[in-house]
Amino acid sequence: MLSITKIQEKITGRWIGKKIKYYSELNSTNKKAWELITKAAPAGTVVITDNQREGRGRGGRLWESSPGKGLTFTIILYPGINAELAHIYPLLSGLALIEALAVFKVKAKLKWPNDIILGGKKLGGILCESKLKGLKINQLIIGIGLNLNEPEFRQGLKATATSLFMETGLYFEREKVLAEILNRLESKLHEFNENGQEIILKTWEKHCFHLNKEISFHYGDNIIKGKFMGLGSGGAAKIKTGDRELYFPSGEII
Ligand code: BTN
Repeated sequence: MLSITKIQEKITGRWIGKKIKYYSELNSTNKKAWELITKAAPAGTVVITDNQREGRGRGGRLWESSPGKGLTFTIILYPGINAELAHIYPLLSGLALIEALAVFKVKAKLKWPNDIILGGKKLGGILCESKLKGLKINQLIIGIGLNLNEPEFRQGLKATATSLFMETGLYFEREKVLAEILNRLESKLHEFNENGQEIILKTWEKHCFHLNKEISFHYGDNIIKGKFMGLGSGGAAKIKTGDRELYFPSGEII
């Protein structure tokens, strides 16, 4: 069972993680976060569970997790900024994760838009969901799943998923890793609010797993083959096919 006291002892920020709602089991921390928003949960509230039974993943997929082994949590925000910037949140969350893992000497990479990659496999994922009011993002939740101490994955996931334990042979204290992520996330959000998206985009590119590599990209019903050139405004994927550079606000590298 996670110790909330241990997490909060290590939190250095001013608002993210000041309030933590812990549940021994839940269907989905994202789903719970929306429920808590209707009950006026303050900005920075973290919803966390030891046993997420129906984790939501990108593209309507499920996020599977083993009880008590990894981290499954969601942060509640009320950004109130232009909806065009919504795509920056998963990117800056990915950066917060990479920087937090570096503190534990783990050099993970980012796969567009928001997968955390280690040893060529998926270590974590981020699912942001938002609701708009007019042209502004009124409410936004950042759901994060990170594999830590799982000794193995089921047959169908083995080829693509990994955990910190599987890559390093070491055990990671979940509370310490979580506190570090929350601290980094607060500082990334601050950086974004102060300086805008540029620095976030540039830093993201530095940690990108597939920058300047040939990729296949799934967009709508199309598969596009080309070179991943980095990020455009709002975090769009910039892909070079032939002599054209195309920008994709959504899609998936396959
Ligand atoms: C992905 O598909 O890569 C995104 C996975 C996001 C999973 C996390 S686990 C905590 C939070 N609650 C959910 O239901 N999903 C996210």
